[in-house]
Amino acid sequence: MSDDDLNSKLAALQRTMADLRHQLASGAAIPSAFTASTPPTNAAALHAPLRAPTPNPPKATELLPPLPRGAADREPFVNWLVTAVRVRSGIAVEEQVRQKLARITLRLPLTEIEKWLSLLATVDSAHPEWLALLESLTNHETYFFRDLGQLEHLQREVLAPLVARERLKAVPSITIWSAASSSGEELYSVAMMLLEELEKAGEVESDGSSIRAKSRWHLRLFGTDLSRQAVRLATAGVYDAGPHASFRKFPVRFSRFLDAAVDGDGQFQRVRDCVRHGVSFQTFNLMDASPPINHCDVVLCRNVLIYFDVEGKRSVWDLVFRALALDGIALFGPTDVLEDRRFTPIWGSSTVLYRKA
Ligand SMILES: C[S@@+](CC[C@H](N)C(=O)[O-])C[C@H]1O[C@@H](n2cnc3c(N)ncnc32)[C@H](O)[C@@H]1O
Repeated sequence: MSDDDLNSKLAALQRTMADLRHQLASGAAIPSAFTASTPPTNAAALHAPLRAPTPNPPKATELLPPLPRGAADREPFVNWLVTAVRVRSGIAVEEQVRQKLARITLRLPLTEIEKWLSLLATVDSAHPEWLALLESLTNHETYFFRDLGQLEHLQREVLAPLVARERLKAVPSITIWSAASSSGEELYSVAMMLLEELEKAGEVESDGSSIRAKSRWHLRLFGTDLSRQAVRLATAGVYDAGPHASFRKFPVRFSRFLDAAVDGDGQFQRVRDCVRHGVSFQTFNLMDASPPINHCDVVLCRNVLIYFDVEGKRSVWDLVFRALALDGIALFGPTDVLEDRRFTPIWGSSTVLYRKA
């Protein structure tokens, strides 16, 4: 393929990504063209997750209350929707979310609302109708190296010792799960830090322009999110380079892991292949019964627990616990308080990690 072909492919991809990012930010409905499942990248195919991508049947499906059939006004339908959203997503429905749900029902006549809710009642939370609804209720805000102090602590106290331990093995392996990865910036940030640690340990090979982990390393860096749009953006790994976007807190030293590209007035950065080695993304609902991956050395579950009620939080802690290898480390959001005694807190100067005891 010629350079021109490559450039025009990249430009088309960037336009698509800009459109998707705009829709993700505005919570708009998902166009059907983007609802098909994402083809795996080579890395994804090489490092497939331990179980099939289809989510488990949702927990407590049968707990949905009976539909208020033939209701004379919207209120009973909104009440049903509030309960259904909490059961299917774990999202704690506060007043703001309730109002959003009420506004959604205003767009439809009563008979259509009943038909729509009947569909929601009979399909699982992986169905496009559920995904579109849940995507419009959650916030996908993320950027590279968010809560930098926390990630630096992870790099120093966890990634560096992991590399030191694994490099002594014939087949060194590291597994990391970003459990609410949004558009991927979090997992790519950790991948860059890991590559830096591998380099310090002399465990990379260079082709002159970039470095990558030596081939004996088995790296699995796995990102999941409820939102299909976010997963598509993450898989593409192309980001708007504007000052308020994904790179607002990007440490300069990691710029070598990006390729710059310009498309019209827009400037973009693409995560280089050396960082994407072993990285894959897929949709997953944290309310599912089993984790999508096991034996993780690290699980990141940051800035998502705020959406869940107490019961939802407990389910997520349990999921993270089961995904971790013995001695594995979990990282929650800086304001999250973990009330699960199966984890041992490891305090840093301004952050805390949790070890599966
Ligand atoms: C604010 S972003 C956090 C992204 C990243 N972890 C960070 O800290 O920057 C929260 C993400 O959680 C996802 N999310 C919300 N509820 C979820 C659920 N039940 N299962 C999986 N992902 C969920 C949303 O789609 C959104 O992308």
